[in-house]
Amino acid sequence: MTTRIIGIGACVPDTIVTNNDLTAFLDTNDEWIRERTGIGERRVSTEMGTTALAVEAAKRAMEDAGVSPEELDFVILATSSGDNSFPSAASEVQGIIGALNAVAFDISAACSGFIFGLHIAQGFFASGIYKKGLVIGAETLSKVVDWSDRSNCILFGDGAGAAVVSAEETGLIHMLMGTDGRKSKVLDCVGRTLGNCLTGFKPEMGFMKMDGKEVFKFAVRKVPEIVNQILDESGLAKDDIDYFVLHQANMRIIESAVKRLDIPMEKVPTNIERYANTSAASIPILLDEMKKDGKLHRGDKLILAGFGAGLTWGATLIEW
Ligand code: ACO
Repeated sequence: MTTRIIGIGACVPDTIVTNNDLTAFLDTNDEWIRERTGIGERRVSTEMGTTALAVEAAKRAMEDAGVSPEELDFVILATSSGDNSFPSAASEVQGIIGALNAVAFDISAACSGFIFGLHIAQGFFASGIYKKGLVIGAETLSKVVDWSDRSNCILFGDGAGAAVVSAEETGLIHMLMGTDGRKSKVLDCVGRTLGNCLTGFKPEMGFMKMDGKEVFKFAVRKVPEIVNQILDESGLAKDDIDYFVLHQANMRIIESAVKRLDIPMEKVPTNIERYANTSAASIPILLDEMKKDGKLHRGDKLILAGFGAGLTWGATLIEW
């Protein structure tokens, strides 16, 4: 058995923060941000945390699939910005939506998280132990970025996307994943520092730090590499693929991948202009938009590809 996405849903906060809005407290401008990143605005949450966004996305995905919460065997939630150290956001979602037959846990793989979640589902389905589940990517990165760091905070936004996945005869065709932990420091956010009865200090929390140039170099090489690898390993050609759904990190990274892969831009949907980088949520939010726009038809072949902190990367070739 393999993994088929049978329902998709998304939720972003209502509040829009444009590039011009950022100039109120940051030495930046719309032209710089658009030119370097393709981002025009992002959603920033003032009320809904990661769990609340995930719950709404999950409900919409279940409605789209026509699946009730009791039918779910697992809830996998990918996030780097959960509301708690514990319990997991997935546990909270499971309780709120009433998926009481499901095991629920979070995974941490930054922007590759949704793809890694699909691959964990694939393991469950291939082994035959589970039949249905939710894979969610949800983030409130607005609380993790340093809003005085202009080369970083402009890049990210809040949101959640969710997919109901089901064990079926056809669906996931091929998958690959990877990690290079030697590069873990080029994009990081330290958690609580050591602080205890022996050190005499209260723990402190860090903010996201990124070596933008290093991440950029890595991404423009890695994205085309993994797309080519998954095509080679599956024996399919670029022309066989209806859409390349790439992690929405930076328009320049996407354009560079399109050029290196020599694929038409019409096959590479984007929404980074409106949502910025929503990390683990970016791919399911984009899939949800594509479905609503009538772009996805049963049997379409899609390559989903992402990269992120870790450094991590992953690609999936699926039939819709
Ligand atoms: N507005 C105006 N000027 C700025 C801003 C800003 N928001 N940010 C930086 N600058 C300035 C810098 O201070 C610098 O000025 P200086 O030359 O006087 O020192 C100048 O612009 C150039 O800065 P660079 O950092 O060299 O700009 P660069 O062209 O590298 O672009 C960027 C920076 C956009 C971050 C780029 O490196 C990038 O996109 N990297 C990849 C980021 C990414 O994709 N992250 C996601 C990673 S994975 C995940 O999804 C979690």
